[in-house]
Formats: sequence, structure tokens, C-alpha cells
Amino acid sequence: MTPSNSPTTLFASRISGTGSAFPEGRLTNQELAVRVDTSDEWIRERTGISERRIAKPGDPNEFNSSLGYRAALKALEMAGKRPEDIDQILYATCSPDTLVPSTACWLQAKLGAKRAWAVDINAACSGFLYGLSMADTFVRAGQSKTILVVGAEVLSSFVNWEDRTSCILFGDAAGAAIVERTSSDSPQRILSSHLHSDGTLTDLLGMPAGGSRSPVTADTIALKQNFLQMKGREVFKVAVKTLADFAQTAIETNGFKAEDIDWFIPHQANLRIIEAVANRLDFPMEKVLLNVERYGNTSAATVPTMLDEAVRDGRIKPGHLVLLDVFGAGLTYGSILMRW
Ligand code: ACO
Repeated sequence: MTPSNSPTTLFASRISGTGSAFPEGRLTNQELAVRVDTSDEWIRERTGISERRIAKPGDPNEFNSSLGYRAALKALEMAGKRPEDIDQILYATCSPDTLVPSTACWLQAKLGAKRAWAVDINAACSGFLYGLSMADTFVRAGQSKTILVVGAEVLSSFVNWEDRTSCILFGDAAGAAIVERTSSDSPQRILSSHLHSDGTLTDLLGMPAGGSRSPVTADTIALKQNFLQMKGREVFKVAVKTLADFAQTAIETNGFKAEDIDWFIPHQANLRIIEAVANRLDFPMEKVLLNVERYGNTSAATVPTMLDEAVRDGRIKPGHLVLLDVFGAGLTYGSILMRW
């Protein structure tokens, strides 16, 4: 686990702009129930999801980087920055435009962010927090002033649409944040970040083929090994425990109590997971921000899209304590506490 934010540095970082973007196409539970043996009632009861957005395959306006581009433009506008101001682009995704080059570079070209260096981060659903934590570290180290962090997925391209245990969960979206330098005594800043991975649990969730371990062949395609596979029940159990533990760590490290937190944004994989975590933390659901019903699990995009929505509709106000908390394939985990 990384240590939390050191108070001894000159600089701190804060988010000065957020943005999000979604594909146009909606896929409801009822429509899914025509494709696989499931029902609207089962999906809503077990996951809290009613519909999700799905990118149109091959539509250049709905490539991963195109959604990231729209989200980034909105974040830049809110922050009052131009693409040329960006020092770094950290692009969290596990469903890239292409394996090579990175989606970050596709986005850089679209934005015309000529001064930036750009790189993808793959920590699955935890990616946005990994990116935000790295951005915070680069800014505190004095290396960068303005960093664009994106969490974006088009997982619909990697889902087995015949597997009812996984295809009901995922949706496509992009969220973005501009992370800027501020002074270390500024009240509005990222207060701490805690990240961890457990590579012994790689078999719980992943895509077995399509990489160098198992290159794409007619057989891997026939066996559907190029698509996401998941041991849902096991993931569920680990998710509840780790989300609760990482939230608790963030709160305690900073000397707060659960009641001090104004808003809790957990990874939106499943409403039942979120309710179980809130219950463990004795945290009221009224302070938990939720978009899982409308968008499903958008992986690295769940936290930044939810953050953007709540900033824009005025629920998150300056001075609020906001706790971000995630888990994802790897497995990967993390929490970030910030004063907005
Ligand atoms: N419709 C109807 N029935 C279904 C469906 C479906 N879509 N899916 C599974 N079932 C059936 C199963 O076959 C099983 O039937 P059986 O009892 O006859 O064997 C029954 O429903 C119960 O199955 P469970 O897997 O026990 O159902 P559970 O309550 O655990 O819900 C779910 C499944 C929703 C997948 C849940 O386990 C979950 O959300 N897990 C976490 C998954 C997750 O968060 N993944 C994302 C990780 S993040 C990332 O990095 C991508």
C-alpha cells in the first residue's frame, strides 16, 4: 500500500475541472432479456442496474478516445485551461482504442495537447484512482503543474454478449479531471491516496486470450477467451471487504470519522456491493453518490463520471470532504480522500 500524501512537500494538487461523456445508444434490461436468458427484475434486484450506454461499433465518434476527448474538453473548460497547458495525459482504461499505440496518444492528437507526454494506465476499474494518485505525486514532486486524468471504457467491445453472468453488468463511458498544482497548505486539495494490488487474484476477472500469453487464434475466438470472464460471487466478497477497508484507512489516516465525510463515491459495480460497504462503515446511503442504475459498471469511468455529475449539479460544494473508493481486476484497490 502506498503511503498517504506527505505534508512536507511545497506543493499539493487539486481537481480544478471535471467532465464526462457517454455514447448515445441505450441498452435497457428488457432489451438484454431478448438476447440472453435473464429478466429486468433479476438484474435490478441483484445489481441495481436498469440500463447502460453502449458505443456503436466502428463509429469514430464513439471510440474510447472520442468519449475521452469529449470528457476532457469539458474538464478543460471548467478548469479554464487549454490543451496546450497540459503537461501529462494519464489515461486509465482496460478497453483501449488499440493495444499499440496507447489511447492516451490517440487522445493527445485529438486535443492538440502538444506539450504533454501521454500514457495509458491499466488497473481495470481502479484505473482512474491510480491515475489520480500518480498525478498527485507528479504535481507534489514539482514535475508537473497541469495533468489530465481520464477514466474511460468501451467494454462493450470486450464483453461476451452470450454470457448472462457478465454482459448485464457493463456499460461504456468516459470521465476526466484536470489536476492542478496548489500550495501544500491549501485547504482544497487531495489529502491522501492509498493503493494496493493483489496479483494472486488474477484468475477472478480477466480476458484469458488476446495478449502474448495466448495470442488470438481461431480456437481462442471459438472458446470466447478473447472476452471478459469473471467469477462474480468471489469478486463480490473481496469487493465488499476491500472497499470497506480502504475507505476506513482513508478516513482514519486523516484523523476523521465516517460522519465527517460529505460524499462517498465508491466504484459503481453493483448496488448490493455498495450497500454492503455502507452498512459495514455505518455510512448513510444518502451521502453515497450513485449512477450505477443509469450506466451500469463503466469500470475506470464510474468514479470520474459520478464526480462530474455531482460537481455540476451542485451536490459537491467547495469545502466538502469527498471520499473515492475502488476495486477492479488484477485485483486492484484504492481510496483517495480530497477536500473539494
Ligand atoms: N439472469 C438470470 N439469472 C442469472 C443471471 C442473469 N443475468 N446471472 C446469473 N444467474 C443465475 C446463476 O446461474 C445462478 O443460478 P443457479 O443458482 O441455478 O446456479 C443464480 O442466478 C445466482 O447466481 P450468482 O452468481 O450467485 O448471483 P449473484 O447474486 O452473485 O449475482 C453478480 C451475480 C451480479 C455477477 C454478482 O456476483 C456481482 O455483481 N459480482 C461482482 C461482479 C463485479 O463487480 N465485477 C466487476 C469487477 S470490476 C472490473 O475490474 C471490471
